[in-house]
Amino acid sequence: MSNKFKIQIPASSSNLGPGFDCFGLALNIFNEYKVEITSTNDYFDIESNLSDDKFCINNKDNLFYKSYLHLLTKNSVEKIPGIKVTLNSQIPCSGGFGSSGTAVLAGLMAANKILDNKLTDLEIVKEASILEKHPDNVCASMLGGFCLSKFENNELTYKKIDWKLNLDILMLYPTNFRVSTSEARSVLKKEHSLENCISNLSNSAFFTAAVLTKDLQLLTNSMNDKIHEEQRLKLIPGALEIITMAKENQAIGATISGSGASLIVFVNSKSNKLSILNKAEEIWQSHKIESNNIVCKVSNSGALIY
Ligand code: HSE
Repeated sequence: MSNKFKIQIPASSSNLGPGFDCFGLALNIFNEYKVEITSTNDYFDIESNLSDDKFCINNKDNLFYKSYLHLLTKNSVEKIPGIKVTLNSQIPCSGGFGSSGTAVLAGLMAANKILDNKLTDLEIVKEASILEKHPDNVCASMLGGFCLSKFENNELTYKKIDWKLNLDILMLYPTNFRVSTSEARSVLKKEHSLENCISNLSNSAFFTAAVLTKDLQLLTNSMNDKIHEEQRLKLIPGALEIITMAKENQAIGATISGSGASLIVFVNSKSNKLSILNKAEEIWQSHKIESNNIVCKVSNSGALIY
């Protein structure tokens, strides 16, 4: 095994409206980890182009290192090979891009390399889903494209669907405001009416059909959620205004990305893209929130190690 390798992992957006904890979409925004196995056991060092973020904490609480250590320990490796990581990140430090999932996956993939690729992709994604506590982001980042996933009876099931819709994606995100996933999960209702369950079931099925049949009208019509958005929108000042404004500007769909605070907007040539970008910034400013955006597309390729 070479003692130097690279891992490239795409960002992801999850839920996409109705597919709570099931839908994941890989984005063509990447984290690249240059990894060097060192001769000193238990050594860890990370350098990064990110400033002051939890993914570049230079100690053993780092998410990459914790996942690396977890997999090696689980496989009874007694002397943990030292590791030096250089992270070149295109992924903003804002919730809704699946960045913790990329760190977990990268740590697991580095450990799997040391284990002579003992684990299959399914086993890596399963381990990452357990560490992340939901499978949607890590499945999309690992496999690329549009992924369906579920974790049921301790079994992970996933299905990748190639995304063939020619849409741009506007990722709108605050830069001085964050909502943690644990906070965004703590506000969720534990019980739902039959009507709401039926609505989410139908919309998830129709969203998937829209992706498979490239039916944009159906995609627009199915991006409705009754399970998580209402509670979460209250945590993100300006989010409802921005989503409403994007739809008024002919967006194909707009919703919270993952657990927020980023928002994801699907647009095509008929959408008023510039106006959505400018007005989103103004709306956030009116709530004293600084913001930025990335215009991207779906990545049909997933994680690579080379
Ligand atoms: N599906 C998860 C949630 C994604 O919405 O809580 C978190 O990034």
